[in-house]
Amino acid sequence: MSCFRAENLSLHFGGLKAVDSVSFAVEKGEILSIIGPNGAGKSSIFNLISRLYEPTAGRLYFEDQDITEEPPYGIAKLGIARTFQNIELFENATVLSNLLVGRHRHSTTSLWQELLFLPNVRRDEKAHRRRVEQVIDFLDLAAHRDKLISGLPYGVRKVIELARALCTEPKLILLDEPSSGLNVEETDDMSFWIRDMKTELGITVLMVEHDMTLVNRVSDRVIALNYGKVLAMGAPAEVQAHPDVVAAYLGT
Ligand SMILES: Nc1ncnc2c1ncn2[C@@H]1O[C@H](COP(=O)(O)OP(=O)(O)O)[C@@H](O)[C@H]1O
Ligand SMILES: [Mg+2]
Repeated sequence: MSCFRAENLSLHFGGLKAVDSVSFAVEKGEILSIIGPNGAGKSSIFNLISRLYEPTAGRLYFEDQDITEEPPYGIAKLGIARTFQNIELFENATVLSNLLVGRHRHSTTSLWQELLFLPNVRRDEKAHRRRVEQVIDFLDLAAHRDKLISGLPYGVRKVIELARALCTEPKLILLDEPSSGLNVEETDDMSFWIRDMKTELGITVLMVEHDMTLVNRVSDRVIALNYGKVLAMGAPAEVQAHPDVVAAYLGT
């Protein structure tokens, strides 16, 4: 059973085929990267999976369950988390508050219970904090726990976005350009964390990335995309040497 599968997935904006009948599977425990020039349709695929966009055609499956009709909160509940190409955090809240937001899908208490702060709410709160602290440890964020997001450097915010996604305890994580805006050293750290997410946390990773060093370092397989279509799929070196992929990159 694959972790995730897209079947003949298409997304059209008027006459533009942003995603054009794309099929692929992400195996459990693997790191699969999607590469391709700007405008290839990479982010659109993520937006289709997280249900921000309606597919024009095609089906999506998570652990063999058809999720094409699932609402966005349903996707999160099933265990799919994502980060964005442009960081999306609550700027005027602390790191800790931003991470507790990531725990929302695990809330079993209802709003009136939360307002009255009943005992099971306190129990939930403790479990949430515990998980958040584990993620803070895992990503080495302890020094920033109580700081406001707005005062933090870009590289740290990028890690916090990753942390927030991990707080949901996902089975599948979608990373949209995890290295964008990072310097060489920060990109290096990012590659270790992505590897550790797979090996230590057992999370399956689907990643969009333009930094080939990072792609080669972490990916089990790569999909190359151009004009919404799959050009090649396979081992990282194989895909990058594929004539259609070389041509697509030279053409931009
Ligand atoms: N909301 C939208 N409305 C119209 N066109 C869009 C929209 N989102 C993306 N596109 C177009 O779809 C194509 C694929 O975009 P995108 O998936 O963002 O590419 P990538 O992430 O590979 O750079 C581009 O031509 C882009 O301009
Ligand atoms: Mg993009």
